[in-house]
Amino acid sequence: EGDLEEAVEAFGHGTPVLVHDDDERENEVDLVVPAYAVTPAVVAQLRNDAGGLVCVALADEVAAAFDLPFMHDAVDHPAGQSTDIAYDERSSFSLTVNHRETFTGITDNDRARTIVELSEAAAAPVETDFAGEFDTPGHVHLLRAAPNLLDDRQGHTELGIALAELADVPPAVVVCEMLDDRTGGAMSRSNALTYARANDSVFLTGSTVIDEMRA
Ligand code: 5RP
Ligand code: CA
Ligand code: ZN
Repeated sequence: EGDLEEAVEAFGHGTPVLVHDDDERENEVDLVVPAYAVTPAVVAQLRNDAGGLVCVALADEVAAAFDLPFMHDAVDHPAGQSTDIAYDERSSFSLTVNHRETFTGITDNDRARTIVELSEAAAAPVETDFAGEFDTPGHVHLLRAAPNLLDDRQGHTELGIALAELADVPPAVVVCEMLDDRTGGAMSRSNALTYARANDSVFLTGSTVIDEMRA
């Protein structure tokens, strides 16, 4: 496991860090990158090396300024009536979006554009006309962090926004689960550690970030 100071420094400069939440929670490792630093090559790395959903976590106050609901509150369908996930009380999913100047929205170029624009919007929420710039449905999943961040919820959503706070970058952070093609499951912690070493990336556990935020 890597050093937090080193991780925050790398993250602040736009280098992906690996974050394991907890054995007792999802027990997943996400690749986590500040949205401002995302290029088409980073989206390709997320697709090819991580393989999960490419999501952008937003701080609660940013999501509030954009009037972004949780998906489970926004859908007028019985499937959204109860949130029934095994590892936490509720999901952090909000809308899916594309920047309006994208074409299909899914290409690495389009997703990078949407993600960078989300970072610019998160850096100046009051000045942003969210609906003028983004439309839903889209190809980037938004996640809304809990108001009291890690005191409320200890997901990758909150861990990512905590890292943004520590690194002093805009509170828009890409998270993507690392999966395993061979097992069909999540990438194991030890394989994620091997990936981190091979790619000069820092591997962090959620508790390291939680302890630092409480210190
Ligand atoms: C979106 C997810 C991921 O697990 C992501 O890490 C965000 O969720 P959480 O905050 O619950 O960890 O479900 O693909
Ligand atoms: Ca999940
Ligand atoms: Zn997660």
